[in-house]
Amino acid sequence: MSIDRGACLLKRAGLLVALLLATSGGASAQTESRRSAAELMDAVMWNREPIGGAFALTDQAGQPRTDRDFRGKYLLVYFGFTFCPDVCPTDLQAIGLAMDQLGARAHAVQPLFVTLDPARDTVEQLAQYVPLFHPKLVGLTGSEAAIATTAEAYRVYFKRVPFKKNPADYTVDHSAFVYLVDPDGKYLGFFPPGTPAERMVEMIKPHLR
Ligand code: NI
Repeated sequence: MSIDRGACLLKRAGLLVALLLATSGGASAQTESRRSAAELMDAVMWNREPIGGAFALTDQAGQPRTDRDFRGKYLLVYFGFTFCPDVCPTDLQAIGLAMDQLGARAHAVQPLFVTLDPARDTVEQLAQYVPLFHPKLVGLTGSEAAIATTAEAYRVYFKRVPFKKNPADYTVDHSAFVYLVDPDGKYLGFFPPGTPAERMVEMIKPHLR
């Protein structure tokens, strides 16, 4: 490698670091919640803090989507990641089944899956994944900053955890509530992880006239 080329690479690396710092507000890329799991769970379980709010993400078709696009529908909002081995698929399956069981009334409900692993859950990855659960399920991804902001708004805990045997690979620890939001974007409540479809339907139905 010539000295010139080495210097150029160094400059480029410097520029990249500067860019990363600029986009993440000086900290390293945010791949975990700033608050502890207990603190966030406490906020949700005892309704201590407002839940939900504005977001600007990208769906599985590559289209930009914001919370405003979904006004007029009840939202079932779930955060997870596509490589999740069991919890996410179980809850997403319940959401899909609930949509089926709502029958004609399902037109008033929009399920959303927001990834907590945007590095791996690209638009293409979401396009493969979300149709497995329901044709109406919208998958949302975005920059690490946009995802962290959305997770924060919903008081979602998440943390990247490298595997012991292969630290280059990781899983994502996360809270797994299913949030119910009304057609005006107002948070109504949550279903705990593992809530069966039948129970969700029973509890959603009274809201739908
Ligand atoms: Ni999961």
